[in-house]
Formats: sequence, C-alpha cells, structure tokens
Amino acid sequence: MLAVDDSRENLELIQALLSVAGYEVVTASNGEEALVVVEEESPDLILIDATVPNMNGFEVCTLLKSKEETRLLPVLLVTPVQETEYKIRGFEAGVDDFVHRPINSVELLARVRSLVRTKRLNDQLVNVENIILALATAIEAKDPYTEGHVDRVASYALSLGGETGLAPWELQLLRKAAILHDVGKIGVNESVLLKPGPLSADEFNHMKRHTVIGERICKPLQQDRLILEVIRHHHERYDGKGYPDGLAGEDIPIAARIMAVVDAYDALTSDRPYRKRLSQEQAVQILKQEAGKQFDPKIAIAFVSMLETGRLG
Ligand SMILES: [Fe+2]
Ligand SMILES: [Fe+2]
Repeated sequence: MLAVDDSRENLELIQALLSVAGYEVVTASNGEEALVVVEEESPDLILIDATVPNMNGFEVCTLLKSKEETRLLPVLLVTPVQETEYKIRGFEAGVDDFVHRPINSVELLARVRSLVRTKRLNDQLVNVENIILALATAIEAKDPYTEGHVDRVASYALSLGGETGLAPWELQLLRKAAILHDVGKIGVNESVLLKPGPLSADEFNHMKRHTVIGERICKPLQQDRLILEVIRHHHERYDGKGYPDGLAGEDIPIAARIMAVVDAYDALTSDRPYRKRLSQEQAVQILKQEAGKQFDPKIAIAFVSMLETGRLG
C-alpha cells in the first residue's frame, strides 16, 4: 500500500491500522513524491489525502488514471469531511472509493480489502488481455493477404482518433481494439477467408459472424467497453445497412465509426486475392463517395484531409 499525507501523525495512524491487518505500507508526504513511489514500488493500492501539497489527491488520481501502466491501480481518497463536493470531484478524477475523517478503522479496512481484491482481478485481466493480443497476431498470420493490416489500421486509428478528439485513455483502448478487431476470424472457415473471388450469400453470412465471435472471445475485457464495441460494430454502416446489428448514424459507437473508415481504407490500398490495390487517390475518391453512406461523413472527411496533407503517422 502507498499512503500519502503531509501530516506525520495521520500517516502513522494509517500505517498502524494497515500493518496490523498484515499490509505492508510505504509512505509519501506530497503528490509528486507519491508518483515517484508508485513508479518505484508498484503498490496494489494508493490511499491519498485529498489536500496534500504539490499536486493534490485529485490531480494525482487524474494523472494515474490517464496512464496505461497505472490506470488499474485503485485510488482511495481520504477527505476531511463527508461532503458531496469532494465525491463529485473525486469521481471525475476517477477515484475508486472514499473514506472521511475521523477515520473509522473497520470501514477503512473493509474498503482497502475490497479494492485490493479488485486490483488482483485487474492484474489477471491484464494477463488475459496479453493472451488475446497474441492470438490476434496468430490469426493475422493465417491470412497472408492481410499481413501488416493490423499494424497499419492501429496506427491510422490512433491518428484519426486523436484528430477526432478522443481522450488519451480512449486512444489507448482504440489501439488495442484495432489490433483485435478481426480476432473473430479464427471462427471463419479458411475456404471462405482465403477465397480468391467474390463470396456467395451464404459465405458472406458466414464471414459476417467474425464480429460476434470476436466479441465473445474478448468478453473478459468487458471493463473496456470501447474494445468490445469496436469488435462488434466495425462493419456497421452510417446509413444503417451494415452488420451485425444494422445500427445507423451516431448510434454506432464513435470508436467503431473511426475503425470502419481506417479498416476500409487499408483494405482498398492493399492487394486482395481478387483484385490489385488501389492508389491513395482512388481510395480517397471512394471514401468521399461513401461519406454519409458507409461512413460517418465528419470522420471520413477528417481522414481524407489527413491523407491529403500528409499528416498520417
Ligand atoms: Fe472485420
Ligand atoms: Fe480489418
């Protein structure tokens, strides 16, 4: 545990309470120091006073939650009194739970225990996530025609997501979502996946299932809803004629609308078993034609302008 408070006395009290319960406690006396200790010690929980100097508890929490490595570290905020205003600010900063002064030791321990349990589950989740990401790479190797597709769409999606105003934490998830978007193809027959010609209606229906299969495979990641949304909805169309749910317009989650544009662009500019790749100009033409039909017009046009001004990483 990391306990952060500028008062020695408070720290000693918390340290005593938690040590009795068998927890190891390190301390810091201000926000900046807390961040250093988090990096060095990777604690399972941070218990921070709302009003510590050099970055208060809210600021520290906001920063931790915005970083990939620390976003799953539970933050327990200690507030001077039980007040709604603290709670509102705390929730906005991503605080996981609160205790107020004077600290009730039974309540503190109950909250600590529950947060530590959450942290353990989150750690397991990170392992599952790594396994699924590895799976995505393995599937890509199954289909030589899509080699490099995942890396390219991940990088396009990051640029376009940034341009569209997604928050840094959303971009992190979008990158993973892009890597995983076609993971459900593991459930598609190779004869369909690699067919060097147009698919029959039956084959196309079979192919469509990769969206829902992918979502099922990635269910353990359900805390990160954005990832599952992209996997399920990246073939929805803005005009409602897509699959699997026929969602239209802004009913399609924004990350999936972004993914639809970059996925299509990369497919158009890559060789396929049944056709040669198109030039950037030809692909841009199609994006423009399909703006408002297949694609969200704002997002498609933003991507076109990034392509035309050479602003893609
Ligand atoms: Fe797909
Ligand atoms: Fe794709």
